[in-house]
Amino acid sequence: MSKNNSTDSFPDERTEPPLAQQPVKDSSPGPLPSSMQLTSDGKLKHFLTIEGLPPLLLEEILDRAEQFVSLPNKAKVQAPLLRGKTVMNLFFENSTRTRTTFELAAKRLSADLVNLDIRNSATTKGESLLDTIRNLEAMGCDMFVVRHSSSSAAHFIARYCAPHISVINAGDGRHAHPTQAMLDMLTIRQFKGRDFTPLKVAIIGDIKHSRVARSQIHALTTLCAGEIRLIGPQTLMPEGIEKMGVTSYTNIEKGLDDIDVIITLRLQHERMDSAMLPSIREFYARYGLTQERLELAKEDAIVMHPGPANRGVEIDSRVADGPQSVILQQVTNGIAVRMAVMSMVMSSQAATRVES
Ligand code: NCD
Repeated sequence: MSKNNSTDSFPDERTEPPLAQQPVKDSSPGPLPSSMQLTSDGKLKHFLTIEGLPPLLLEEILDRAEQFVSLPNKAKVQAPLLRGKTVMNLFFENSTRTRTTFELAAKRLSADLVNLDIRNSATTKGESLLDTIRNLEAMGCDMFVVRHSSSSAAHFIARYCAPHISVINAGDGRHAHPTQAMLDMLTIRQFKGRDFTPLKVAIIGDIKHSRVARSQIHALTTLCAGEIRLIGPQTLMPEGIEKMGVTSYTNIEKGLDDIDVIITLRLQHERMDSAMLPSIREFYARYGLTQERLELAKEDAIVMHPGPANRGVEIDSRVADGPQSVILQQVTNGIAVRMAVMSMVMSSQAATRVES
């Protein structure tokens, strides 16, 4: 298992040396005051975490995303909602799906998009993140889409950037990945209907290191899902997770009984401080989602994965490619959900400017 050599919590740049010089820490930014991501009239200004957002706002994101999904001839449609706006993709960590779908979403909303090549950026030459942000602001940016290995990097940028800029968290450390959770909610709604209360949802695998699982749990509880089960070895279960209103299972056979929605997760080696499993083979033997195990869930259960999926580790190829898999639908929905969130934060910014 690889050693985590990145910082996992974000320093206060006013008092601390640049990120690259920080020791490894492990802390989440904790619950956010809602004023940090909402305007005074409750509109979405930044999208940093799902925790604390009202159910109606999540429904609004899903409804808006559904409209984008159903646009005719969607590949060619360009909605003008972000015309004249500049979106900057700041991905300090690797990404394929998330970065590309944010890019497509921005383009379909007619924004000007800049993908920053962070590996060659000045932050790797010792410039502080805040200085980089100031310089990008000076180029006329309206929105930052941020992915970073430090939990709370997006919050940090939202706190210190110019007031007309919106920040969207595209995954920070092991803390949150709110747009991923919302595209997952959209996928569940498309297959299981708008009412989440009868649904039993199981999340299997490396919960401890997963920002996706945390955001999914917040989204599912906000939307009043009937039951949330976490399945995995004790070593990959965060301490005190029951406080989030979930039940944990170390036995996958028991955990999958009568389930409607199964979400599988990758082993996130890059965030593990030490070996947490005897072996990959053992993990697959005990927790891999095989066809036999899938049959323990409801007959019409759907199988999800945020990607990247490791076949033969957390999921069998027959299941990943099987009729109950909705994994590619999740990817497609990523564009619509990101269009929804981007257009919502920009319209709340426009409303704020008109008022002031
Ligand atoms: C997830 C992420 O980056 O947190 N993937 C994604 O955004 N599609 C999950 C993961 O990396 O395992």
